[in-house]
Amino acid sequence: MKIYLKPYRSKLVLIAFLVFLQAILQLTLPTLLAELVDVALQNADVSYIVQVGLWMLLITVVTVAVTVCSGYQTAKLTSSVALTIRERLYASVQGFSLQEYRQFGHSTLLTRTTNDVQQVQTILSLLLKTMLLAPMMFIGAFILSVTKNLTLSFILIAPLPIIILIVIWFAKKGGTLFASLQKRVDQLNLTLREGITGIRDIRSFNQIDRERERFSEANESYRNSAIHVHQLMIYLTPIMMFILNFSIVALLWFGSLQLNTGELQVGDLMAFIQYAMYILFSIMLTSVLFVSFPRASVSAKRILEVLNAEPTIKNPTYSLTPEQQSSLRFADVSFQYPNAEKSVLKNVSCTIPNRKLTVIVGGTGSGKSTLLQLIPRLLDVSAGNIVMGGIDLRNVDQEALRNAVTFSPQNTQLFSGTIENNLRFGSENVSMQQIDRALSIAQSESFIKELPEGINTTLTQNGKNLSGGQRQRIAIARALIKETDMYLFDESFSAIDAGTKRQILDKLLHELNKSTVVIATQDVGIAKRADHILVIDEGEITGEGTIMSYYKRVRFITN
Ligand SMILES: Nc1ncnc2c1ncn2[C@@H]1O[C@H](COP(=O)(O)OP(=O)(O)OP(=O)(O)O)[C@@H](O)[C@H]1O
Ligand SMILES: [Mg+2]
Repeated sequence: MKIYLKPYRSKLVLIAFLVFLQAILQLTLPTLLAELVDVALQNADVSYIVQVGLWMLLITVVTVAVTVCSGYQTAKLTSSVALTIRERLYASVQGFSLQEYRQFGHSTLLTRTTNDVQQVQTILSLLLKTMLLAPMMFIGAFILSVTKNLTLSFILIAPLPIIILIVIWFAKKGGTLFASLQKRVDQLNLTLREGITGIRDIRSFNQIDRERERFSEANESYRNSAIHVHQLMIYLTPIMMFILNFSIVALLWFGSLQLNTGELQVGDLMAFIQYAMYILFSIMLTSVLFVSFPRASVSAKRILEVLNAEPTIKNPTYSLTPEQQSSLRFADVSFQYPNAEKSVLKNVSCTIPNRKLTVIVGGTGSGKSTLLQLIPRLLDVSAGNIVMGGIDLRNVDQEALRNAVTFSPQNTQLFSGTIENNLRFGSENVSMQQIDRALSIAQSESFIKELPEGINTTLTQNGKNLSGGQRQRIAIARALIKETDMYLFDESFSAIDAGTKRQILDKLLHELNKSTVVIATQDVGIAKRADHILVIDEGEITGEGTIMSYYKRVRFITN
């Protein structure tokens, strides 16, 4: 809590000052009252009566103003603290891996970010109000009452031990009840959430009544728990009021005895009763704080559990640094498009070696594009897993993964805008040199030069004012500008004439010889260059190895 309050140190001082002022002002009222009754009224001095009365009025008005101010400042401060806690919770939850989500569950994370923070905010605001005011009122009123009358002061503090015992009992009992209440809130949220997000399934399986019943159960269970808590808490105020009234009666009794003997004046007795109220009021305020404490501490614990949960998978560790780079392994991977009847990839197990050229060959519709899209997780495997250096790709931070892998899709998209804008797509800050280098590898320099505005030529939608081969070359250059560890080309050379294609490949493979390159193609010329080849047929890997071992097969498939 301390760290959350630190930025508000000056606000805290201000609130403390306002509360201090409030206590002092309130404490002066009974003294003035005694003065009014004992001196002004007894002497029937009208102008003095008016004078004291006006003072009392003024102090009351100022007290109200100060109370409003401190209340406002407290609300502002506690809301800001709650906002920060919620923000940290959100950040912490964002960093969670699937495991932590599963461990906590979505509903409790929602409750912890909203309801539990609210509880903490409430106790904080109570704490700020009570922590200063209660002791000040208590000590101030007690000192003033002792100076007025010692015997009566003892009557005032006599019930204190009883009150303390009662408060401890309530706080203990409340703790367990509040913990179970918060669990019921979680349960209620869970049922509600499932009811809302699963509405389609609920309707199609005709389970509306069953779900309604489930919700009612959770709702009732929450209500019963809340009643339980309130049943307990409802006794607190009457018990306190009873003690308070009992003390006042005792004060009046003993006070009237002293009045008779002339030891005490009426005004003093009135002031005394006021002090008694203040003292008992401050005790009550403290008792409310103590009794509310268990609930807030349950909530605080639940919040801290989330904040302190160490994600088992930390994003930065999995940003695929070069040291972590190793061969990519498909282990029993199957993939089925949503709503499709059959799997497109069936139990694919293969390896894409690190820093080598892998070529995937296979007939139309065999699943090459699908397989490539699994690597940057544009699609996610339906079964099995894809592992790099022992890490399932699904556990790698998506942004990091996509920064580490460049994917140039089949029929890649160019955007309306200049050629340069298109080239800078995804890597805005590259230098002109890097752009030129990429264009030179992609054999695009000459045709761009011939365009009326060169690299600043505006492309129409999807680059329709370029030829298919020119578009593909720009797409290749765009992929090369993004410097990553792995490049995936899906039929990126299909529209380029054989001579240019050879030149591009020579330069490209030379330039990327330290990267992992995967090319999906039906072109036997490209397959021949592969260090490693994967033959795919109707979603199954039918061959894997060096080009030599599959040469005949490749020829067969690609012809
Ligand atoms: N979005 C989709 N939804 C449903 N089925 C799809 C989808 N995309 C592809 N398929 C199916 O998946 C199978 C494999 O398609 P994929 O695009 O991976 O083949 P490919 O080997 O890349 O073919 P090509 O050589 O023609 O590019 C095909 O039968 C295709 O009909
Ligand atoms: Mg394809």
